[in-house]
Amino acid sequence: MPALVLLGAQWGDEGKGKATDLLGGSVDYVVRYQGGNNAGHTVVVGDQKYALHLLPSGILSPGCTPVIGNGVVVDPSVLLSELSGLNERGVDTSKLLISGNAHIITPYNVTVDKVTERFLGKRKIGTTGRGIGPTYADKINRVGIRVQDLYDESILTQKVEAALDVKNQMLTKLYNRRAIAVEQVVEELLGYAEKLAPYVSDTVLVLNEALEQDKVVLFEGGQGTLLDIDHGTYPFVTSSNPTAGGACTGAGVGPTKISRVIGILKAYTTRVGAGPFPTELLDEDGEALRRIGGERGVTTGRDRRCGWFDAVIARYATRVNGLTDFFLTKLDVLTGWEQIPVCVAYEIDGRRVEELPYSQSDFHHAKPVYEMLPGWSEDISKAKSFSDLPKNAQAYVKALEEMSGAPISAIGVGPGRDETIQINSFL
Ligand code: GDP
Ligand code: IMO
Ligand code: MG
Repeated sequence: MPALVLLGAQWGDEGKGKATDLLGGSVDYVVRYQGGNNAGHTVVVGDQKYALHLLPSGILSPGCTPVIGNGVVVDPSVLLSELSGLNERGVDTSKLLISGNAHIITPYNVTVDKVTERFLGKRKIGTTGRGIGPTYADKINRVGIRVQDLYDESILTQKVEAALDVKNQMLTKLYNRRAIAVEQVVEELLGYAEKLAPYVSDTVLVLNEALEQDKVVLFEGGQGTLLDIDHGTYPFVTSSNPTAGGACTGAGVGPTKISRVIGILKAYTTRVGAGPFPTELLDEDGEALRRIGGERGVTTGRDRRCGWFDAVIARYATRVNGLTDFFLTKLDVLTGWEQIPVCVAYEIDGRRVEELPYSQSDFHHAKPVYEMLPGWSEDISKAKSFSDLPKNAQAYVKALEEMSGAPISAIGVGPGRDETIQINSFL
């Protein structure tokens, strides 16, 4: 019953796509359990580079069945174009399974995302504008549209009517926009029904049966721990639960089934969009991390904010996810610094604080307390084992491991599948 959760330990973009793809060859199912096409996962296989948004990164491994779980929000037009893009490149996507209970991102959810951000002005979240928050809001408000609704025109029409009833008032009276016609939305959604039909299934049953048969199931998180709606830096978060518990609700698998929880952890920190970020660098070091690390959003093309490694956040991720392992990524990007600062605690209003403060006012004031670790200048991208790393790089990894509270079981030294040092097996 090996069920693994693989998730982001920081603010997203830690390299989850690469890590999932690496495991893809040895797992039977890879399941997305939350989020939608706000995710941007880059996978490099040989000389081919893939950017995945909605599909689980396991889709690139031929033996693996990719699953979109009930907790995901699905934009059908994005899904279909992602599928056809992969088909054109020779990737077989026929095994894909989509939960009938997953919610649909409708065109009006995308509109509402954009207008509310505009209305928030300086207080905006900096969302990806993909309709994620409004779709989850509809789900919680019980006016959402689910994948299975595409197969009953009468129910679909009633649901779209109910959803647009209030939204059209809001769009026209508050935001000064045109009303959205029910028939137009229904027609567009019905247009997707037939194309999606081969994939729609009872994914909860499929996954639980697979686990009973001792198949290996990998749950792939989108976003990251600090973007979690409950445990992240609210309100500067996404509208779902990327943390480990989200895998249970978002795929319909009990917590007793989860055997391993792997946190993907970048050797430094990045964040896209607004919100607090204690170790953010607004100087040439930040610029250098962005340039060397290629820190530009896969989904929105925005520059990522960059900063030094924050061990307080890593410890927090270990706790709220019950992490059993870390996969440390992008160690190669740090090559060339004489000394590398690592944030070991915060100073908040003159006090030293070791753990992430639950109070947002405190977190907004948190100043990093740095420890300086010696850097290295040797190229590490060809390293195959821990002992191949320069002594200072080894010491950096060991120091991070000690501060973060879980073993570092793999280290990324480049974007490619084979540019990985495996220390402990994940299976
Ligand atoms: P995700 O959203 O967590 O899947 O991460 P992204 O794909 O958005 O961003 C991670 C970026 O880092 C991608 O461009 C990856 O190809 C790249 N990457 C992943 N691991 C490594 C690594 O160990 N070293 C380097 N240099 N790049 C990596
Ligand atoms: P992956 O899976 C980084 C951020 C957005 C914004 C906030 C809310 O590639 O790690 P949303 O559109 O979700 O309502 O936006 O969350 N965000 C991400 N940041 N990586 C992601 O995904 C993200 N998905 C959302 O920038 O600040
Ligand atoms: Mg990403």
